[in-house]
Amino acid sequence: MATRSDPITTLSAALLALALIGCNGGSEESASAGESESAGDDALTWWRDVEPVVRTRCATCHRSGDIAPFALETHEQFVAVASALGPAIEGERMPPWPPDPACHTYAHSLALEADEEATLLTYLAGEMPEGDPADAPPPGDPPDELDPDVTLSMPEPYTPSPSEGVDDYRCFVLPWPAEIADERFVTALQVFPGERAIVHHVILFAVEPGQEAAYFDLDAAEPGPGYTCFGGPGGPPGARWLGGWVPGAPPVLAPEGLGQRVDAGSHLIMQVHYNTAGGAGLADQSSIGFEVATQVDHEATVIPMVDIAWLGGGAMVIPAGDPAVTHEATWERDNPIFTQALSRIGVAPTDEVAIWNAGLHMHTFGTRGRIAIRGPGDAEECLLDIPEWDFNWQSSYSFEAPSIVGADEALHLQCWWDNSADNQPIVDGMKQAPADLDWGDRTTDEMCLGILFASAVP
Ligand code: HEC
Repeated sequence: MATRSDPITTLSAALLALALIGCNGGSEESASAGESESAGDDALTWWRDVEPVVRTRCATCHRSGDIAPFALETHEQFVAVASALGPAIEGERMPPWPPDPACHTYAHSLALEADEEATLLTYLAGEMPEGDPADAPPPGDPPDELDPDVTLSMPEPYTPSPSEGVDDYRCFVLPWPAEIADERFVTALQVFPGERAIVHHVILFAVEPGQEAAYFDLDAAEPGPGYTCFGGPGGPPGARWLGGWVPGAPPVLAPEGLGQRVDAGSHLIMQVHYNTAGGAGLADQSSIGFEVATQVDHEATVIPMVDIAWLGGGAMVIPAGDPAVTHEATWERDNPIFTQALSRIGVAPTDEVAIWNAGLHMHTFGTRGRIAIRGPGDAEECLLDIPEWDFNWQSSYSFEAPSIVGADEALHLQCWWDNSADNQPIVDGMKQAPADLDWGDRTTDEMCLGILFASAVP
């Protein structure tokens, strides 16, 4: 069992916190001017003011060999694409950080601090002097890395298929090590992308012992390692979310004393979203490292929040041509999915529940999603609001402190979609005609799923 040396990161994240960044330095940089030889007294320079922000906020993805389409590692590279940067920053497309900060406070954020944004925009509006390399602040600490107890790797490299277009969603079945004869609790995990240029996100699911045959069948039915999967792991319902990764994310750590149980003989399904725009023909062999404990103070679990009626078909229809469709669900504490998921971790409907982290899942027609706790009367606590849903940047977000759902409170989930003629996918160069959408696993289906990392109140 590896020990965790950094109390800041221990504090920071629940197990599903996908979109954290190891942010060292940079955020303290201010736009205040100092002496500079190559520019006027007030001018910001690349080395002193801008590079430290870009290094921590952009170049974690915008570097050679990584997922972003161009590098922002040098002054020359920055200046060459300068005209595109301001609009992406002001339009809040970059850095990618979809949650509305007005809804809730999260443990970490990829978003620019106000002073960082001001530095970049002021610099972009001026002459963009390089300044003196000697003014550069010292580099921050290297990003955190896990020291895994268990590592699972794709059995062989996979080269995304060009017939799938630039996006290829592939699932791999990974057996939990047979030598582990009894249950373990996952307290931290880290995805190690094999080929960073094409791995856009990874989601992990746990399959209970004895349930794996259906997944091996899916794998066997397709040539090459793994099988095609889009909205989830495919196969029968019941695979549990375990965690995930998007570019820029450091290891995800469960809050102190918590862990998710994995039984001996389980299998993991690793879903990888490959985007080959940055490297056609590249092969990937990603792996995942886990820190595990034989015991924890409280078992945690991921609760998939959904209206059970939607799964049957017909209850979550998104009519063809409609630009603004919404469906919502309210879970009282006696909701069967809720009580079942919580009974797994010994929490009764009359007990309070701690929610540490929230995520949302929709497909590509989604425009907005929101999760809240609703109390008696009008009381409401917003947990997660994604005002501009982007399938490519789905993630989940850790809270600074857990939010408590009381016995007399409910959870509320709402999703919005645009199924108008304008918002249709292009297939073989042809914009598709709108069709009614409903719940399902395929690209042409939709979902509305809340994902909550929960435990008993510690
Ligand atoms: C977490 C990874 C990540 C970080 C951090 C990030 N980018 Fe990006 N960026 C991408 C990816 C990937 C793309 C390609 C388009 C996409 O997938 O959304 C992109 C595309 C862009 C584009 C072109 C598309 C557009 O929306 O205009 C610009 C400009 C850009 N990034 C600027 C920035 C700047 C400036 C920063 C820092 C302030 C930054 N990015 C931080 C991953 C990142």
